[in-house]
Amino acid sequence: MAKISVIGAGNVGATTVQRLAELELGEIVMTDVVEGLPQGKALDLMQAGAIKGYDTSILGSNDYSDIADSDLVIVTAGIARKPGMSREDLIKTNSKIIVEVSQNIAKYAPESVVVIVTNPLDIITYVAMKSTGFETKKVFGMSGVLDAGRFASFIAEELKCSRKNVQAMVIGGHGDLMVPLPQYTTVSGIPLPDLLPEDTISRLVERTINGGAEIVELLKQGSAFYAPSSAIVSMAEAVIKDSKSVLPACAYLEGQYGQEGIYFGVPVKLGASGVEEILELKLDQDQYEVLRKSSESIRKIFSQIEV
Ligand code: NAI
Ligand code: 2OP
Repeated sequence: MAKISVIGAGNVGATTVQRLAELELGEIVMTDVVEGLPQGKALDLMQAGAIKGYDTSILGSNDYSDIADSDLVIVTAGIARKPGMSREDLIKTNSKIIVEVSQNIAKYAPESVVVIVTNPLDIITYVAMKSTGFETKKVFGMSGVLDAGRFASFIAEELKCSRKNVQAMVIGGHGDLMVPLPQYTTVSGIPLPDLLPEDTISRLVERTINGGAEIVELLKQGSAFYAPSSAIVSMAEAVIKDSKSVLPACAYLEGQYGQEGIYFGVPVKLGASGVEEILELKLDQDQYEVLRKSSESIRKIFSQIEV
């Protein structure tokens, strides 16, 4: 049976464990630095199994040795920005947490595939790859599945059609410089530009780019976790079932899209060994330009932190 560990038992981590448990994808370990938090949530989630009808074993722990021999490790540990904190403070704090988490993953689960969720995603995924010392294909980040889910949901609302019929694609960085791709978005195979006028598509693209911030503004405390955990689980399923699913992921680029030595969102084939292939799409000139700006801003941040 597969073993899946989730580091960080906060909103995203615990909801991810709930979704994984309901699918009975494998045995689960959930860890956190806060004593009692993962243990309490694990107990609650196992009791839910008696009602919902799943038998997944869930261990809550504050001890990294419990993640030993995991096939998949999902990293959601970290802080979100608080009043008075700069973006750089967030990067510094979360990088430090991720270095510690990564070293423990390398020590106890050296064969695992690692999915990073902690923000700022594109930077933190790179930090995790460097500090685990794992092959680049075994460490990748979750962003595009979430952003594409948001785009798809807005499209379905606009067209008054089922969300299940919309297949969207979003690449680039997980932030202001993400690139929703209308020309690679379809509704039951029908290209989006054949269904909606350009100005409507532009409005939905803008809303997608601000999708995370829109929720933060409404919640006032914390950020989204239902859609993020759904996105994580679809990636986890691809790895555990070795399904070769084509999904957007924050992957390490070695020349693709004109980028070298950097992580950001691109369509990939996901399987048991992680990112098994990067798919290169033909983009419009302005979309290439946003990707270039996105990579420039990521490189600028790298130059300010030690990895
Ligand atoms: P949260 O605050 O609810 O949970 C974070 C948890 O991490 C807390 O329980 C905290 O105790 C724990 N933690 C802190 N340091 C730790 C360490 N060294 N080891 C283990 N656990 C540790 O936050 P939430 O909402 O779960 O978000 C988690 C992260 O995921 C944030 O950085 C957030 O910005 C990011 N995020 C990324 C998304 C994406 O699309 N990539 C989507 C949603 C959230
Ligand atoms: C989101 O997009 C906070 O990255 C997170 O909701």
